[in-house]
Amino acid sequence: MNVPLLDLVGQYRAVKDEVLPALQAVIESQQFIMGPAVAQLEAKVAELSHARHGVGCASGTDALLLPLKALNMKPGDEVITSPFTFFATAGAIHNAGGRPVFVDIDPATFNIDPAAVEAAITPRTRAIVPVHLYGQMAEMERLLLIAQRRGVKIIEDAAQAIGARRSIDGVWRMAGELGWVTGYSFFPSKNLGAWGDAGMMVTSDDATAERLRKLRLHGGAKQYHHEEVGLNSRLDTIQAAVLLAKLPHLADWSARRRAHAAYYGERLAGLSAVRVPAIGAGNEHIFHQYTLRVERRDALQAHLKAKGIGSAIYYPIPLHRQPCFAHLGYAAGSLPRSEQAALEVLSLPIFPELTQPQLDTVVDAIREFYR
Ligand SMILES: Cc1ncc(COP(=O)(O)O)c(C=O)c1O
Repeated sequence: MNVPLLDLVGQYRAVKDEVLPALQAVIESQQFIMGPAVAQLEAKVAELSHARHGVGCASGTDALLLPLKALNMKPGDEVITSPFTFFATAGAIHNAGGRPVFVDIDPATFNIDPAAVEAAITPRTRAIVPVHLYGQMAEMERLLLIAQRRGVKIIEDAAQAIGARRSIDGVWRMAGELGWVTGYSFFPSKNLGAWGDAGMMVTSDDATAERLRKLRLHGGAKQYHHEEVGLNSRLDTIQAAVLLAKLPHLADWSARRRAHAAYYGERLAGLSAVRVPAIGAGNEHIFHQYTLRVERRDALQAHLKAKGIGSAIYYPIPLHRQPCFAHLGYAAGSLPRSEQAALEVLSLPIFPELTQPQLDTVVDAIREFYR
């Protein structure tokens, strides 16, 4: 039995009767740019995030780039982030004129280590960009204390974590609730995926929301009047309509991912060569990815592939070791926990529509490999 890493066709079949009429309505209206679906989606995603404002944009990358641009960074200004993330996190820092400062991760959750963040703060630090990797939140309460004490902003990279939450002092706090601005990606493979590129920022800072709305429209609230130079980065109305139709399913899809994760966890327990994902204290994980740490990773991946089972390595090269950041001077071994993770991680199929026989196929293949 084949088990793909991701099967978007299954989800399409399940939702097409809801999504296609919504798409058709946009097409009939011909309001492709900033049509009503955009503001409706912005309101819903803001509400889900316990934030006052949603500001749609063209991608998750731009949802980080725009708030970083709003910092008006000067040469030498620094932004602290994790090297163990998708490239866009650090690419956006660079493209906004900042210098990425990479600090190591917590080896259990793969999220940024707040103690390492604190140690890396300098007078040039302007912001911290924690990434809620694989769908569980970073330790926001510790990061917030550091940010408040040092007068720097937090921009949450929640590209993989829409709907994730964390219990802090007994209160559920959503991804997107606590940072200054949060960026979401609706890349098709995400828990809430568009049918193309799309992204959104959320914030509870009224003035910042206003600024971001301008920055996504070439820096002007009024057509042909530009207070500053921004981007052309709007959330396409067609994509907003797709996302609005899919949003009511998000909680159920993430719950199914959690159930699959629990099943993998049970069935893989006891294999000494495999470490199943750790859920940080207080976190409710949305399992955008289900990522193991394993021995003989590349051989296991080849074994799974031979059996028709998809898997992926997120991420094989930590960003501090990417050629484009060589000038930043991070030697091999400088962030050892991230480098070790890059050698050991393997993500398994975790999409909501996975069937019981498919889950068992994956588990059996892994157990067979380590027998
Ligand atoms: C952690 C992280 N940050 C940023 C992004 C960028 O999002 P997008 O691909 O929508 O530009 C992604 C996803 O692709 C991501 O996983």
